[in-house]
Amino acid sequence: EGGDAPPAQKWSFSGPFGTYDRGSLQRGLKVYKEVCAACHGLSYVAFRNLADPGGPGYSPAQASAFASEYKIKDGPNDQGEMFERPGRAADYFPSPFPNEQAARAANGGAAPPDLSLIAKARSYKRGFPRFVIDFFSQYQEQGPDYVDAILQGFEDKVPAGVTIPEGSYYNKYFPGHAIKMPKPLSDGQVTFDDGSPATVAQYAHDVTTFLMWAAEPHMEARKRLGMQVFAFLIIFAGLMYFTKKKVWADAH
Ligand code: HEM
Repeated sequence: EGGDAPPAQKWSFSGPFGTYDRGSLQRGLKVYKEVCAACHGLSYVAFRNLADPGGPGYSPAQASAFASEYKIKDGPNDQGEMFERPGRAADYFPSPFPNEQAARAANGGAAPPDLSLIAKARSYKRGFPRFVIDFFSQYQEQGPDYVDAILQGFEDKVPAGVTIPEGSYYNKYFPGHAIKMPKPLSDGQVTFDDGSPATVAQYAHDVTTFLMWAAEPHMEARKRLGMQVFAFLIIFAGLMYFTKKKVWADAH
């Protein structure tokens, strides 16, 4: 049995002109760092990416300062030893577990998936080719809607007739309803310094926006180029029309 259909949310990045909300990306990064990172990796994102155009909008210096708060495993050094050092801008987000077996062992048999691509992964479930999904933007948002929903779909009261095995939790939107992720978010858990509400709904929205950026960091440039292509084609079609008229002016 599947999960309930995730409610459609409003996303700043929806549609052909959509962009990422910088504030939301920055808050979402904080939620990822303080909550999700305990169990989920983000291994395709490097700290330097936090300063890339179209992203959370940090300066290279801020990205380096953020990186230096992490401990990164490195080595071997000249003595053949592994060691830990502060993170640098070029490092990738470190994963919480050394490998999949360790991740499973710590989470009741289900490994928490790497979140780098999760916001896009779920839209494949529709069964359409990727380009078809992307063309119709309402389907493109199926991924973020699902991530947002799953974070808010935990309920203490299990509906009659549903049994949840030991070590799993009831979630309205998870396919099969029994998820091995414990409810990760509660009100007041993360403090925002921009006055945004400290609610589960706000955390879910922001971390999902952040994960959408992680999955598609060049979305803004892609959409901008797409619009330039359309503008060019419209102008070019007009030029061609008048050229044709002129060239064929005295054809009988
Ligand atoms: C699964 C997101 C925090 C443990 C997942 C999934 C997502 C997700 C999208 C995939 C669900 C699916 O397969 O359809 C997040 C986010 C978090 C967060 C955004 C932070 C707000 C945590 C924490 C833990 C955790 C703190 C560990 C205590 C797991 C596990 C699974 C999972 C074990 C696999 C569940 C299963 O397959 O049954 N998470 N998670 N997550 N998460 Fe999290």
